[in-house]
Amino acid sequence: MLRVMAVVAALAVGATAVWAQNAAGIAARKDAMKAFGGAAKGPGGMAKGDAPFELPKVQASLKTIQETAVKAKGLFPDDTKTGETDALPAAFEKKADLMARFDKLGADAKAAEGAIKDEASFKAEWPKVVSNCGGCHKEYRKPPAAK
Ligand code: HEC
Repeated sequence: MLRVMAVVAALAVGATAVWAQNAAGIAARKDAMKAFGGAAKGPGGMAKGDAPFELPKVQASLKTIQETAVKAKGLFPDDTKTGETDALPAAFEKKADLMARFDKLGADAKAAEGAIKDEASFKAEWPKVVSNCGGCHKEYRKPPAAK
């Protein structure tokens, strides 16, 4: 009944697709991505030489990335395809690839967690983890210029 009313309301404002949106779902996805961003920031600065290398911070970030990659897999339901989102329709059409990419990010973060012992191993391993971010954004996120 509520859904019928929502459809009627949506038709009334001439926005037939609006009723199917899941704004909370989109917000949850963006929050997960912000957690990725927060986790990547510190080590990103260390990789560039802007901040001193600190192993415990790097390991904490890698843990957050692993946990968030698991969460992110559940944050692309079809009712979050339209609305205030930068996810491209392709993300929902090629979901198996999208999920595989989150799995790979998680696996690479876990491998890096084991392999990073010092600054040299950090500099070798970190790029392998974050290349997953850009790789997926290139395929499945609107480029900033297209916003
Ligand atoms: C498998 C695909 C995928 C991977 C891997 C991925 N992202 Fe994203 N990311 C997306 C998509 C899709 C969006 C757009 C989400 C939306 O607007 O609904 C996004 C959005 C973002 C945003 C913007 C969030 C906002 O506030 O709108 C940030 C920041 C971000 N990602 C950081 C990262 C970082 C850092 C990593 C790696 C640790 C990462 N992402 C890995 C797909 C991915």
